[in-house]
Amino acid sequence: MGLRLEGRRVVVVGGGAVASRRVPALLDAGADVLLVSPKVTASLEDLAAAGRIRWEARGYLAGDCAGAWLVCACTDDPEVNAAVAAEAEAQRTWYVRADDAGASSAWTPASGQAAGVRVGVLSVDPKQGDPRHSAAIRDALLADLQSGRISARHGRRHPAGVAIIGGGPGDPGLITVRGRQLLAEADVVLTDRLAPRSLLDELRDDVEIIDAGKIPYGRAMAQEHINAALVSHAQAGRFVARLKGGDPFVFGRGAEEVLACLRAGVPVTVVPGVTSAVGVPASAWVPLTHRGVTQEFHVVSVHVAPGDERSTVNWELLGGSSGTLVLLMAVERIGAVADELLRYGRSPDTPVSVIADGTLPTQRTINSTLEQVESRVAEEGIRPPAIVVVGDVVSVAAEITGLMRHVTA
Ligand SMILES: C[S@@+](CC[C@H](N)C(=O)[O-])C[C@H]1O[C@@H](n2cnc3c(N)ncnc32)[C@H](O)[C@@H]1O
Repeated sequence: MGLRLEGRRVVVVGGGAVASRRVPALLDAGADVLLVSPKVTASLEDLAAAGRIRWEARGYLAGDCAGAWLVCACTDDPEVNAAVAAEAEAQRTWYVRADDAGASSAWTPASGQAAGVRVGVLSVDPKQGDPRHSAAIRDALLADLQSGRISARHGRRHPAGVAIIGGGPGDPGLITVRGRQLLAEADVVLTDRLAPRSLLDELRDDVEIIDAGKIPYGRAMAQEHINAALVSHAQAGRFVARLKGGDPFVFGRGAEEVLACLRAGVPVTVVPGVTSAVGVPASAWVPLTHRGVTQEFHVVSVHVAPGDERSTVNWELLGGSSGTLVLLMAVERIGAVADELLRYGRSPDTPVSVIADGTLPTQRTINSTLEQVESRVAEEGIRPPAIVVVGDVVSVAAEITGLMRHVTA
Protein backbone atom coordinates (compact mmCIF):
# COMPACT_ATOMS: atom_id res chain seq x y z
CA MET A 1 0.00 0.00 0.00
CA GLY A 2 1.27 3.46 -0.80
CA LEU A 3 0.18 6.29 1.48
CA ARG A 4 -0.74 9.66 0.00
CA LEU A 5 0.65 12.07 2.55
CA GLU A 6 0.28 15.41 0.73
CA GLY A 7 -0.91 17.97 3.26
CA ARG A 8 -1.47 15.28 5.91
CA ARG A 9 0.01 15.57 9.40
CA VAL A 10 2.83 13.16 10.24
CA VAL A 11 4.23 13.34 13.77
CA VAL A 12 7.89 12.40 14.19
CA VAL A 13 9.09 12.00 17.77
CA GLY A 14 12.89 12.05 18.13
CA GLY A 15 15.41 14.15 16.22
CA GLY A 16 18.43 11.89 15.70
CA ALA A 17 19.87 9.95 12.81
CA VAL A 18 16.69 7.92 12.09
CA ALA A 19 14.51 11.03 11.96
CA SER A 20 17.07 12.76 9.74
CA ARG A 21 16.67 9.95 7.21
CA ARG A 22 12.88 9.71 7.43
CA VAL A 23 11.87 13.38 7.44
CA PRO A 24 13.21 14.29 3.95
CA ALA A 25 11.26 11.38 2.44
CA LEU A 26 8.12 12.51 4.23
CA LEU A 27 8.64 16.04 2.93
CA ASP A 28 9.15 14.69 -0.60
CA ALA A 29 5.74 13.06 -0.21
CA GLY A 30 4.28 16.45 0.73
CA ALA A 31 3.57 15.58 4.38
CA ASP A 32 2.90 18.22 7.01
CA VAL A 33 5.64 17.18 9.47
CA LEU A 34 5.52 17.97 13.20
CA LEU A 35 8.83 17.08 14.86
CA VAL A 36 8.95 16.70 18.64
CA SER A 37 12.39 16.45 20.20
CA PRO A 38 14.43 18.49 22.68
CA LYS A 39 17.50 18.18 20.42
CA VAL A 40 17.74 17.63 16.68
CA THR A 41 20.51 17.08 14.12
CA ALA A 42 21.83 20.02 12.11
CA SER A 43 19.97 18.92 8.97
CA LEU A 44 16.63 18.82 10.83
CA GLU A 45 17.37 22.18 12.40
CA ASP A 46 17.94 23.58 8.90
CA LEU A 47 14.57 22.20 7.75
CA ALA A 48 12.88 23.82 10.75
CA ALA A 49 14.67 27.14 10.16
CA ALA A 50 13.55 27.07 6.52
CA GLY A 51 9.95 26.56 7.64
CA ARG A 52 9.69 23.14 5.99
CA ILE A 53 8.79 21.35 9.23
CA ARG A 54 7.36 22.47 12.57
CA TRP A 55 9.72 21.65 15.42
CA GLU A 56 8.59 21.50 19.06
CA ALA A 57 11.89 21.68 20.97
CA ARG A 58 10.83 19.58 23.94
CA GLY A 59 10.22 16.01 24.99
CA TYR A 60 7.14 14.04 23.92
CA LEU A 61 3.89 14.89 25.69
CA ALA A 62 0.68 12.88 25.63
CA GLY A 63 -1.58 14.40 22.98
CA ASP A 64 1.24 15.12 20.46
CA CYS A 65 -0.19 12.54 18.08
CA ALA A 66 -3.56 14.32 17.83
CA GLY A 67 -4.64 14.80 14.24
CA ALA A 68 -1.81 12.67 12.79
CA TRP A 69 -2.32 10.22 9.94
CA LEU A 70 1.02 8.57 10.62
CA VAL A 71 3.35 8.60 13.62
CA CYS A 72 7.06 7.79 13.65
CA ALA A 73 8.57 7.03 17.05
CA CYS A 74 12.30 7.51 16.51
CA THR A 75 13.76 8.34 19.92
CA ASP A 76 16.51 6.25 21.47
CA ASP A 77 14.37 5.68 24.56
CA PRO A 78 12.16 2.57 24.22
CA GLU A 79 9.81 3.82 26.94
CA VAL A 80 9.11 7.03 25.06
CA ASN A 81 8.66 5.13 21.80
CA ALA A 82 6.24 2.76 23.56
CA ALA A 83 4.22 5.70 24.94
CA VAL A 84 4.05 7.31 21.48
CA ALA A 85 2.98 4.01 19.94
CA ALA A 86 0.32 3.49 22.63
CA GLU A 87 -1.17 6.92 21.96
CA ALA A 88 -1.23 6.29 18.21
CA GLU A 89 -2.75 2.85 18.66
CA ALA A 90 -5.46 4.23 20.94
CA GLN A 91 -6.49 6.83 18.38
CA ARG A 92 -6.17 4.32 15.46
CA THR A 93 -3.31 6.05 13.70
CA TRP A 94 -0.67 3.95 11.91
CA TYR A 95 2.70 4.10 13.68
CA VAL A 96 6.26 3.00 13.01
CA ARG A 97 8.64 2.33 15.90
CA ALA A 98 12.26 2.67 14.81
CA ASP A 99 13.49 0.53 17.71
CA ASP A 100 11.01 -2.34 17.50
CA ALA A 101 9.43 -3.51 14.25
CA GLY A 102 7.46 -6.12 16.17
CA ALA A 103 5.73 -3.41 18.19
CA SER A 104 4.85 -1.28 15.14
CA SER A 105 1.53 -1.23 13.31
CA ALA A 106 3.24 -0.22 10.04
CA TRP A 107 6.64 -0.89 8.51
CA THR A 108 8.81 1.35 6.36
CA PRO A 109 10.15 -0.57 3.39
CA ALA A 110 13.66 -0.04 2.04
CA SER A 111 12.65 2.03 -0.96
CA GLY A 112 13.96 3.95 -3.93
CA GLN A 113 12.99 4.80 -7.47
CA ALA A 114 14.35 4.08 -10.92
CA ALA A 115 13.04 3.78 -14.46
CA GLY A 116 9.73 5.36 -13.54
CA VAL A 117 8.84 2.95 -10.73
CA ARG A 118 9.17 3.05 -6.97
CA VAL A 119 10.50 -0.11 -5.40
CA GLY A 120 9.78 -1.02 -1.78
CA VAL A 121 11.29 -4.08 -0.11
CA LEU A 122 10.09 -5.61 3.18
CA SER A 123 11.29 -8.83 4.79
CA VAL A 124 8.80 -11.68 4.68
CA ASP A 125 8.55 -11.19 8.42
CA PRO A 126 9.61 -7.60 9.18
CA LYS A 127 9.31 -8.32 12.91
CA GLN A 128 12.43 -10.45 12.66
CA GLY A 129 13.99 -9.56 9.30
CA ASP A 130 17.26 -7.74 8.92
CA PRO A 131 16.66 -4.26 7.43
CA ARG A 132 20.15 -4.38 5.84
CA HIS A 133 19.07 -7.43 3.86
CA SER A 134 16.04 -5.54 2.49
CA ALA A 135 18.25 -2.53 1.73
CA ALA A 136 20.74 -4.70 -0.17
CA ILE A 137 17.94 -6.24 -2.26
CA ARG A 138 16.51 -2.77 -2.91
CA ASP A 139 19.96 -1.59 -4.09
CA ALA A 140 20.38 -4.60 -6.38
CA LEU A 141 16.92 -4.05 -7.90
CA LEU A 142 17.54 -0.34 -8.45
CA ALA A 143 20.93 -1.01 -10.04
CA ASP A 144 19.37 -3.52 -12.43
CA LEU A 145 16.53 -1.15 -13.30
CA GLN A 146 19.01 1.65 -13.90
CA SER A 147 21.27 -0.43 -16.09
CA GLY A 148 18.36 -1.92 -18.04
CA ARG A 149 19.07 -5.48 -16.88
CA ILE A 150 15.49 -5.35 -15.62
CA SER A 151 13.62 -3.49 -18.31
CA ALA A 152 10.66 -1.24 -17.68
CA ARG A 153 10.56 -0.12 -21.31
CA HIS A 154 7.38 -1.98 -22.19
CA GLY A 155 5.48 -0.06 -19.56
CA ARG A 156 2.82 2.46 -20.45
CA ARG A 157 5.17 5.42 -20.38
CA HIS A 158 7.85 4.56 -22.90
CA PRO A 159 9.68 7.84 -23.49
CA ALA A 160 9.59 9.53 -26.86
CA GLY A 161 11.94 11.77 -28.81
CA VAL A 162 15.61 12.25 -28.10
CA ALA A 163 17.66 12.34 -24.88
CA ILE A 164 21.04 14.05 -25.18
CA ILE A 165 22.96 12.31 -22.39
CA GLY A 166 26.24 13.40 -20.84
CA GLY A 167 28.09 10.16 -20.21
CA GLY A 168 30.89 11.60 -18.07
CA PRO A 169 34.61 11.46 -18.82
CA GLY A 170 34.92 7.74 -19.54
CA ASP A 171 34.57 5.61 -16.40
CA PRO A 172 31.12 3.98 -16.79
CA GLY A 173 30.44 4.65 -13.10
CA LEU A 174 30.48 8.38 -13.72
CA ILE A 175 27.29 8.66 -15.78
CA THR A 176 24.34 10.05 -13.82
CA VAL A 177 21.50 7.83 -12.61
CA ARG A 178 19.08 9.57 -14.98
CA GLY A 179 21.46 9.18 -17.90
CA ARG A 180 21.71 5.48 -17.27
CA GLN A 181 17.95 5.09 -16.90
CA LEU A 182 17.24 6.80 -20.21
CA LEU A 183 20.01 4.87 -21.94
CA ALA A 184 18.40 1.63 -20.76
CA GLU A 185 15.11 2.65 -22.33
CA ALA A 186 16.49 3.64 -25.72
CA ASP A 187 15.59 1.92 -28.98
CA VAL A 188 18.51 3.60 -30.77
CA VAL A 189 21.79 4.87 -29.29
CA LEU A 190 24.14 7.25 -31.11
CA THR A 191 27.52 7.25 -29.41
CA ASP A 192 30.63 9.37 -29.58
CA ARG A 193 34.26 8.35 -29.52
CA LEU A 194 34.74 9.67 -25.97
CA ALA A 195 31.44 8.40 -24.52
CA PRO A 196 31.63 5.60 -21.91
CA ARG A 197 31.20 2.81 -24.41
CA SER A 198 31.39 -0.04 -21.95
CA LEU A 199 27.80 0.88 -21.02
CA LEU A 200 26.72 -0.28 -24.46
CA ASP A 201 27.43 -3.91 -23.51
CA GLU A 202 24.55 -3.74 -21.05
CA LEU A 203 21.95 -2.79 -23.65
CA ARG A 204 19.39 -5.26 -24.97
CA ASP A 205 20.26 -7.07 -28.18
CA ASP A 206 17.52 -5.32 -30.16
CA VAL A 207 18.89 -1.82 -29.49
CA GLU A 208 20.42 -0.26 -32.61
CA ILE A 209 23.82 1.28 -31.86
CA ILE A 210 25.15 3.89 -34.27
CA ASP A 211 28.78 4.92 -33.84
CA ALA A 212 28.71 8.64 -34.63
CA GLY A 213 32.51 8.72 -34.41
CA LYS A 214 32.58 6.65 -37.58
CA ILE A 215 30.26 8.80 -39.68
CA PRO A 216 32.36 10.01 -42.65
CA TYR A 217 32.13 13.41 -44.44
CA GLY A 218 34.42 15.44 -42.08
CA ARG A 219 33.51 17.23 -38.88
CA ALA A 220 30.87 19.72 -40.01
CA MET A 221 29.04 17.35 -42.33
CA ALA A 222 29.20 14.59 -39.77
CA GLN A 223 27.32 16.81 -37.34
CA GLU A 224 24.59 17.38 -39.91
CA HIS A 225 24.28 13.65 -40.42
CA ILE A 226 24.11 13.06 -36.67
CA ASN A 227 21.35 15.68 -36.36
CA ALA A 228 19.46 14.10 -39.26
CA ALA A 229 19.79 10.61 -37.74
CA LEU A 230 18.49 11.83 -34.36
CA VAL A 231 15.48 13.45 -36.00
CA SER A 232 14.63 10.63 -38.41
CA HIS A 233 14.78 7.85 -35.80
CA ALA A 234 12.68 9.88 -33.38
CA GLN A 235 10.14 10.70 -36.09
CA ALA A 236 9.91 6.98 -36.83
CA GLY A 237 8.66 6.53 -33.23
CA ARG A 238 11.92 5.29 -31.67
CA PHE A 239 13.32 6.65 -28.43
CA VAL A 240 16.81 7.88 -29.23
CA ALA A 241 19.65 8.23 -26.71
CA ARG A 242 22.53 10.41 -27.84
CA LEU A 243 25.38 9.31 -25.57
CA LYS A 244 28.17 11.88 -25.41
CA GLY A 245 31.41 12.20 -23.49
CA GLY A 246 31.50 14.55 -20.49
CA ASP A 247 28.73 17.13 -20.42
CA PRO A 248 26.79 17.68 -23.65
CA PHE A 249 26.90 21.46 -23.32
CA VAL A 250 30.67 21.78 -22.69
CA PHE A 251 32.42 21.78 -26.06
CA GLY A 252 30.06 18.97 -26.97
CA ARG A 253 27.80 20.48 -29.63
CA GLY A 254 24.85 19.34 -27.52
CA ALA A 255 22.97 22.57 -28.06
CA GLU A 256 23.26 22.17 -31.84
CA GLU A 257 21.59 18.78 -31.53
CA VAL A 258 18.88 20.19 -29.26
CA LEU A 259 18.16 22.94 -31.77
CA ALA A 260 18.03 20.47 -34.67
CA CYS A 261 15.50 18.32 -32.80
CA LEU A 262 13.31 21.26 -31.81
CA ARG A 263 13.38 22.75 -35.32
CA ALA A 264 12.06 19.40 -36.58
CA GLY A 265 9.37 19.33 -33.86
CA VAL A 266 11.03 16.42 -32.01
CA PRO A 267 10.80 16.46 -28.18
CA VAL A 268 14.24 16.53 -26.62
CA THR A 269 15.72 16.40 -23.16
CA VAL A 270 19.26 16.98 -21.89
CA VAL A 271 20.91 15.03 -19.10
CA PRO A 272 23.93 16.88 -17.70
CA GLY A 273 27.14 14.92 -17.31
CA VAL A 274 30.39 15.16 -15.36
CA THR A 275 32.53 17.20 -17.71
CA SER A 276 36.10 16.01 -18.28
CA ALA A 277 37.15 19.60 -17.51
CA VAL A 278 36.33 18.99 -13.86
CA GLY A 279 36.16 15.19 -13.50
CA VAL A 280 39.52 14.39 -15.07
CA PRO A 281 41.59 16.74 -12.85
CA ALA A 282 39.74 15.36 -9.81
CA SER A 283 40.62 11.81 -10.88
CA ALA A 284 44.29 12.88 -10.80
CA TRP A 285 43.84 14.61 -7.40
CA VAL A 286 44.14 18.11 -8.92
CA PRO A 287 41.70 20.53 -7.24
CA LEU A 288 40.71 23.36 -9.57
CA THR A 289 40.34 25.78 -6.68
CA HIS A 290 42.06 25.65 -3.30
CA ARG A 291 41.76 28.04 -0.38
CA GLY A 292 44.72 30.39 -0.32
CA VAL A 293 45.86 29.30 -3.81
CA THR A 294 43.21 30.41 -6.27
CA GLN A 295 39.56 31.39 -6.38
CA GLU A 296 38.94 30.91 -10.08
CA PHE A 297 39.35 28.51 -12.94
CA HIS A 298 38.96 29.01 -16.66
CA VAL A 299 38.02 26.23 -19.06
CA VAL A 300 39.38 26.76 -22.55
CA SER A 301 39.06 24.85 -25.82
CA VAL A 302 42.32 24.83 -27.76
CA HIS A 303 40.93 23.11 -30.85
CA VAL A 304 42.55 26.01 -32.72
CA ALA A 305 45.94 27.41 -31.70
CA PRO A 306 46.47 30.87 -30.22
CA GLY A 307 46.88 33.31 -33.09
CA ASP A 308 44.63 31.28 -35.39
CA GLU A 309 42.06 33.61 -36.92
CA ARG A 310 39.25 31.30 -35.71
CA SER A 311 40.37 31.59 -32.08
CA THR A 312 38.16 33.76 -29.84
CA VAL A 313 40.20 33.11 -26.67
CA ASN A 314 41.69 36.13 -24.88
CA TRP A 315 45.16 34.68 -24.17
CA GLU A 316 46.43 38.01 -22.88
CA LEU A 317 43.82 37.92 -20.11
CA LEU A 318 44.56 34.28 -19.27
CA GLY A 319 48.31 34.93 -19.22
CA GLY A 320 47.82 37.86 -16.85
CA SER A 321 45.47 36.02 -14.48
CA SER A 322 46.59 33.79 -11.62
CA GLY A 323 43.56 31.51 -11.93
CA THR A 324 43.75 27.82 -12.81
CA LEU A 325 43.57 27.09 -16.54
CA VAL A 326 41.90 23.88 -17.72
CA LEU A 327 42.74 23.30 -21.37
CA LEU A 328 40.82 20.84 -23.56
CA MET A 329 41.99 19.62 -26.97
CA ALA A 330 45.37 21.21 -26.24
CA VAL A 331 47.87 18.35 -26.52
CA GLU A 332 48.89 18.99 -30.15
CA ARG A 333 49.14 22.74 -29.59
CA ILE A 334 50.69 22.77 -26.11
CA GLY A 335 53.90 24.49 -27.23
CA ALA A 336 52.06 27.41 -28.79
CA VAL A 337 49.84 27.71 -25.71
CA ALA A 338 52.81 27.73 -23.31
CA ASP A 339 54.56 30.40 -25.41
CA GLU A 340 51.48 32.58 -25.38
CA LEU A 341 50.97 32.29 -21.61
CA LEU A 342 54.66 33.06 -20.95
CA ARG A 343 54.46 36.02 -23.31
CA TYR A 344 51.55 37.50 -21.35
CA GLY A 345 53.05 37.10 -17.90
CA ARG A 346 52.82 33.57 -16.52
CA SER A 347 56.00 32.41 -14.86
CA PRO A 348 58.10 29.73 -16.66
CA ASP A 349 58.01 27.52 -13.55
CA THR A 350 54.19 27.57 -13.28
CA PRO A 351 53.24 23.94 -12.54
CA VAL A 352 51.41 22.06 -15.30
CA SER A 353 49.70 18.68 -15.18
CA VAL A 354 48.74 16.74 -18.31
CA ILE A 355 46.22 13.96 -17.69
CA ALA A 356 45.49 11.58 -20.56
CA ASP A 357 42.66 9.01 -20.66
CA GLY A 358 41.30 10.44 -17.41
CA THR A 359 39.14 8.10 -15.28
CA LEU A 360 39.95 5.15 -17.56
CA PRO A 361 42.19 2.19 -16.64
CA THR A 362 44.81 3.66 -19.01
CA GLN A 363 44.92 7.05 -17.23
CA ARG A 364 48.37 8.68 -17.23
CA THR A 365 49.54 11.92 -15.65
CA ILE A 366 52.70 13.87 -16.28
CA ASN A 367 53.71 16.86 -14.20
CA SER A 368 55.89 19.58 -15.61
CA THR A 369 56.24 23.36 -15.86
CA LEU A 370 55.04 25.81 -18.45
CA GLU A 371 58.58 26.10 -19.79
CA GLN A 372 59.09 22.37 -20.23
CA VAL A 373 55.68 20.93 -20.86
CA GLU A 374 55.98 20.77 -24.65
CA SER A 375 59.11 18.62 -24.58
CA ARG A 376 57.76 16.43 -21.76
CA VAL A 377 54.54 15.75 -23.69
CA ALA A 378 56.62 14.77 -26.74
CA GLU A 379 59.05 12.59 -24.73
CA GLU A 380 56.24 10.75 -22.99
CA GLY A 381 54.24 10.31 -26.19
CA ILE A 382 51.08 11.76 -24.62
CA ARG A 383 48.13 11.53 -27.01
CA PRO A 384 44.58 12.92 -26.83
CA PRO A 385 42.24 12.80 -25.10
CA ALA A 386 44.00 14.78 -22.41
CA ILE A 387 43.30 17.64 -20.04
CA VAL A 388 46.03 20.17 -19.31
CA VAL A 389 45.86 21.99 -15.97
CA VAL A 390 48.03 25.08 -15.52
CA GLY A 391 48.47 26.73 -12.12
CA ASP A 392 49.63 26.37 -8.54
CA VAL A 393 46.83 23.93 -7.71
CA VAL A 394 48.98 21.28 -9.40
CA SER A 395 51.30 21.51 -6.36
CA VAL A 396 48.36 20.64 -4.10
CA ALA A 397 47.91 17.42 -6.09
CA ALA A 398 51.58 16.62 -5.46
CA GLU A 399 51.01 17.09 -1.74
CA ILE A 400 47.92 14.83 -1.83
CA THR A 401 49.63 12.04 -3.75
CA GLY A 402 52.67 12.29 -1.47
CA LEU A 403 50.46 11.70 1.58
CA MET A 404 48.45 8.99 -0.16
CA ARG A 405 51.52 6.81 -0.30
CA HIS A 406 51.46 6.54 3.50
CA VAL A 407 47.74 5.73 3.75
CA THR A 408 46.64 2.22 2.97
CA ALA A 409 43.02 1.48 2.21
C1 LIG B 1 35.25 17.78 -27.93
S1 LIG B 1 35.79 17.91 -26.28
C2 LIG B 1 34.42 17.22 -25.46
C3 LIG B 1 34.32 17.63 -24.03
C4 LIG B 1 33.17 16.96 -23.30
N1 LIG B 1 31.89 17.45 -23.77
C5 LIG B 1 33.26 17.16 -21.78
O1 LIG B 1 32.43 17.85 -21.19
O2 LIG B 1 34.16 16.57 -21.19
C6 LIG B 1 36.98 16.62 -26.23
C7 LIG B 1 38.10 16.90 -25.26
O3 LIG B 1 37.71 16.64 -23.94
C8 LIG B 1 38.80 16.22 -23.19
N2 LIG B 1 38.52 14.86 -22.67
C9 LIG B 1 37.37 14.19 -22.80
N3 LIG B 1 37.43 13.02 -22.15
C10 LIG B 1 38.65 12.96 -21.59
C11 LIG B 1 39.32 11.99 -20.79
N4 LIG B 1 38.72 10.85 -20.41
N5 LIG B 1 40.57 12.25 -20.38
C12 LIG B 1 41.19 13.40 -20.72
N6 LIG B 1 40.60 14.35 -21.48
C13 LIG B 1 39.35 14.13 -21.91
C14 LIG B 1 40.01 16.18 -24.12
O4 LIG B 1 40.67 17.43 -24.00
C15 LIG B 1 39.33 16.02 -25.44
O5 LIG B 1 40.17 16.45 -26.49
